[in-house]
Amino acid sequence: MKKIRFGIIGLGNIGAHHYGYFPEMDGAELTAVCDIDKTRFSRLEPASDFDHDGVAATWEGQVATFTDYRGMLGSGMVDAVIIAVPHYFHPEMAKEAFRRGIHVICEKPMAVTSREAREMNAAHASSGVVYAAMFQMRTDPVYIKIKEMLEDGTLGEVRRVSWIITNWFRTQAYYDSGGWRGNWTGEGGGVLMNQCPHNLDLFQWFFGLPKRLSAMAYLGKWHDITVEDDVSVLMELDNGATASFITTTGDTPGTNRLDIAAENGKLVLEDGRLTFHKTEKPVQEILNTSQQGFYSAKPEVVEVSIERKPHGHKYITQNVINAIKGKEELISPGTEGLKSVQLANAILFSGLKGCPVEVPVSEGEFDQLLEELRRDELEKAPEKAFDWGRYVADLKAL
Ligand SMILES: NC(=O)c1ccc[n+]([C@@H]2O[C@H](COP(=O)([O-])OP(=O)(O)OC[C@H]3O[C@@H](n4cnc5c(N)ncnc54)[C@H](O)[C@@H]3O)[C@@H](O)[C@H]2O)c1
Repeated sequence: MKKIRFGIIGLGNIGAHHYGYFPEMDGAELTAVCDIDKTRFSRLEPASDFDHDGVAATWEGQVATFTDYRGMLGSGMVDAVIIAVPHYFHPEMAKEAFRRGIHVICEKPMAVTSREAREMNAAHASSGVVYAAMFQMRTDPVYIKIKEMLEDGTLGEVRRVSWIITNWFRTQAYYDSGGWRGNWTGEGGGVLMNQCPHNLDLFQWFFGLPKRLSAMAYLGKWHDITVEDDVSVLMELDNGATASFITTTGDTPGTNRLDIAAENGKLVLEDGRLTFHKTEKPVQEILNTSQQGFYSAKPEVVEVSIERKPHGHKYITQNVINAIKGKEELISPGTEGLKSVQLANAILFSGLKGCPVEVPVSEGEFDQLLEELRRDELEKAPEKAFDWGRYVADLKAL
């Protein structure tokens, strides 16, 4: 079968990573790369654990370079693209690719606003191409196991969830390094938009979107930045269970601890280990029938065995290649990327307005809030704002 020809748009941190593993892909080849910054073409260095000879062979003379993504999409050289540019560009690039019948893997988050992510889904609907989201944590065996235990009845109905995900520490130097990150005009958000989309996606993958939530979100609580860097949320799930979600880029050492209290006991993920505290009877049955007022459960505590297999970005890309060939279902469909954006938007909206909200929040009201935040940044902290128009024009002038 013919190899699927891929292009990568954006050769920064993550684009270079995708570039590096491409020679390992089965059934696909890299035929083109695109970046508005020409210097990226010569600075590309595959990560050390990749096959350098393979990468060099792919690169030399065989991979076309473009500075305009439309040029790449219209060149006839690509059947599929990985969109690895900053978030604000994702919607226009994905929609342009759909329009031309080109398959898309889009980096997280799909978009900054739910409206844009929903419009991407609508554009995809009639395109007939494969659309995937780069939520590579869905390939992590630990998270796959949790999903399995939620779906196969091992845990029983969820009663409460608590996720503290604070191991996203970033220093002031990270934000001071300038550029599009950590501001409303360049990025469109802070920890919810940059670090947490993976966790928000896993949350909705496991438990679905909450019905409603109430959040506290702080703008620049720990850092001298305009966007949120500390967020606490309380949510109500579809079945009435409650969930809390706490994140920040300001704690170190950070924590990644997910507690799922369910009908058959408690599942705890911490430090990559999964422990199931299986109660002797279903929790509600103990509660209803025990004659002991101060009953103490005697759970069987088992460390859940996890198949330790490699995971990450390249497994999503290989899955997409296989899906294009009709051999596999998508692990991370792009259309599902809408949900983590809806969750991020609802959390930010609730946190900044100081009120509980139904999920999803009104797209119009969220767009208005984002516009106000962008305007405020330009007026009150122009030194922190990022001007995409000028950035692109300066690069073109080089
Ligand atoms: N899945 C993951 O684990 C993961 C990890 C890192 C980043 N990301 C996502 O990938 C995206 C890029 O992040 P990054 O850290 O690589 O950023 P980066 O700034 O390191 O790289 C972005 C690249 O895109 C180029 N670019 C910008 N606008 C462009 C345009 N209009 N056309 C062509 N090229 C353009 C820039 O010149 C730059 O080389 C973000 O959306 C980010 O959230 C995902």
